[in-house]
Amino acid sequence: MAVTATKPKAYLCRRFPKAIEAALGERYQLQVNTDDSILRPEQIAQSAQGSEILFASATEQINADVLRQLAPTLRYVATLSVGYNHIDMATAQALGIGVLHTPDVLSDACAEIAMMLMLNACRRGYEADRMVRTDSWPGWSPTQLLGLGLKGRRVLIFGMGRIGREIATRARAFGMEIHYHNRRALADDLAQGAIYHADFDDGLRNADVLVIAAPGSPELKGIINAERIAQLPENAVVINISRGELVDDDALIQALSSGKLFAAGLDVYANEPNIDPRYRELDNVFLTPHIGSATHETRDAMGWLLINGLDALYQGTTPDNLLGTR
Ligand code: DGY
Repeated sequence: MAVTATKPKAYLCRRFPKAIEAALGERYQLQVNTDDSILRPEQIAQSAQGSEILFASATEQINADVLRQLAPTLRYVATLSVGYNHIDMATAQALGIGVLHTPDVLSDACAEIAMMLMLNACRRGYEADRMVRTDSWPGWSPTQLLGLGLKGRRVLIFGMGRIGREIATRARAFGMEIHYHNRRALADDLAQGAIYHADFDDGLRNADVLVIAAPGSPELKGIINAERIAQLPENAVVINISRGELVDDDALIQALSSGKLFAAGLDVYANEPNIDPRYRELDNVFLTPHIGSATHETRDAMGWLLINGLDALYQGTTPDNLLGTR
């Protein structure tokens, strides 16, 4: 974007990588939430007054009140996330505020975390690490920490979008049989032989490992509940890299405690960072703090996608990552 005498005002809700903040500073009169705290909606509405662009992330609730209060000047919300369930899209649309997000560039990183969770849940990574770290390893034993191998096991990918398909590629390399549930079956070139289950329950009955990779939309809240978990085979494993709200915590914790499930691997939770404390008490869950896209190169790529998208908009063209345009 050509730098004009009056740069548009922008507010940065979280600290972005250094190179990204520098590029933003060249383009915009940038105000920064310097201490990187998670701002409440009313704090955002107050701090970002007068801004044309609001840079946010999945930790900010950009609700109708925030959008209405900022609407007199706000043209764009740019979120450093592929998920946008934290933004009131209907209100943004009604107010003519464009929303940009960061698809594609984080698919590899998120798929890697899904595999990390799967391996650690199946091979008891938390217990193994703890045994060594706490000096409680009695030495090698033929029956110590026996887990589940991935080879030959059936994985059901719930949400076979860009991230889901990257997970399938990696799971295939581990010798897993790939199943998926989506609203629609994929074209053959995208499915790559994965078995489609139009009926979710039918998919669940075929899932030694369930990977939740569907978008965090409100309609899917609580979809992984007691009834659905009951459909899974005994000793199944549940992995969640999507949004915690898709899972009914009571049901998952009950199934992990009763032995119905072998294990779970979770990167996302309802009410982050104040997760259901009962997860911390369970040995058969492997927990990570929402790090799906947390690599240096991915976070830079996410930042550049927002910057390039906004540059395009200010030059009068529509970027692919403006929501509602593809
Ligand atoms: C995303 O991009 O949606 C990740 O979950 C990080 O918020």
